[in-house]
Amino acid sequence: MAAETDQTKKFYNLSPAARLARLIAETGLSGADAAALSGEGGLAIDAADHMIENVIGTFSLPIGVARYFRVNGRDVPVPMVVEEPSIVAGASFMAKLARGTGGFIAHTTPPEMIGQIQILDLSDPASARLKLLAEKEALLAEAAQVDPILLKLGGGPRDLVVRLIEDSPIGPFLVAHLVVDVVDAMGANAVNTAVERLAPRVERITGGRVLLRILSNLADRRLARARVTIRTTDLAFGDFSGEDVRDGIIQAWAFAAADPYRAATHNKGIMNGVDPILIATGNDWRAVEAGAHAYAARDGRYTSLSTWGQDAAGDLVGTLEMPLAVGTIGGATRVHPGAQASLRLMGIDSAAELAEVIVSVGLAQNLAALRALATEGIQRGHMSLHARQVALAAGAQEEQIDALVQRLVTDGIIRIDHARAILAEWSKEDHD
Ligand code: MEV
Repeated sequence: MAAETDQTKKFYNLSPAARLARLIAETGLSGADAAALSGEGGLAIDAADHMIENVIGTFSLPIGVARYFRVNGRDVPVPMVVEEPSIVAGASFMAKLARGTGGFIAHTTPPEMIGQIQILDLSDPASARLKLLAEKEALLAEAAQVDPILLKLGGGPRDLVVRLIEDSPIGPFLVAHLVVDVVDAMGANAVNTAVERLAPRVERITGGRVLLRILSNLADRRLARARVTIRTTDLAFGDFSGEDVRDGIIQAWAFAAADPYRAATHNKGIMNGVDPILIATGNDWRAVEAGAHAYAARDGRYTSLSTWGQDAAGDLVGTLEMPLAVGTIGGATRVHPGAQASLRLMGIDSAAELAEVIVSVGLAQNLAALRALATEGIQRGHMSLHARQVALAAGAQEEQIDALVQRLVTDGIIRIDHARAILAEWSKEDHD
């Protein structure tokens, strides 16, 4: 049998260094970016010391690359920083299935973020609201002065919305929403600076007292949407027909659509795909998490962020819509060499493109979980993946891996000593 080489092996059977070498060959990734992703040239202690307070070091997590993603007709290797097994494999597998129909179609709304100004101590909140609206143009013009660079890049303040909160524990008050197009930034800095700047003028106009001036993480004007179709024939495996798997996925989604207890876990599965890319690109994953879950409850009852159904041809169709406040400039994205390298690995240079990839991976991850849950359960897949790692660590050759994984799972003993004993047994049989 011809010896396996790094060129012929499957990506997941390569060593980490050989995987990186293959990515360099496939994408033209630079040596410096490869070093940043491998950890060798990652976040330096001096840079870390400037990022937060009381720094004592840096903390590592694995970075893996999800394969097979095709988003809006473009192939994208997806870097994922995460500690949970099965996520990278699950996303890659679903991305492979999605290629049968051309992959994921994704788009975003304009990158508009909301800054909130809370206005208290108003004797007549309803007329104060009208006074503010009458001064809208002047307020937007003042907000525009805050960030000339943002204006030059085509962003800036877009709207002022004033809401009367009629019922609160402290009685009625007003909230002004300043809407700002933040282009390729996450936007917290631009928005927070603008609302702080407007506060004195808002007090003069309304005669009230401004308390909070802060970004809202419910970024419901900055949405990302993805859609995917999977051929029902591609869903069949083992004893499960494609129709069984498709219907099981739709029934699993219906559970999340109707029940908040299930929706929380369902959406967690989506965030399993979203967060690892946010971390890999230096984005604020707490902000995106907050926005996602608030959006899932926007109609007063927490529900699924995704939908699953079938089209006229009987194929499975999934959609995901969620707020995605992500940036490709500023913050840790600028400072962390790994974040820059991740963006270059994906060939991404706008926040919209990044959001399109992230929402697609979130949808793929959701599909991976539902497919497993609606068929054999998730533990079996976890066990096979774990067994694969053990088989590799025990020194199995490429052609031995599948058989060894199966044997370890069947024996129910997924340990390196057992894997070595089986390999030794096979080698003895070969020589007898
Ligand atoms: C585990 O990290 C995620 C799942 O629980 C998601 C889901 O139940 O849909 C498998």
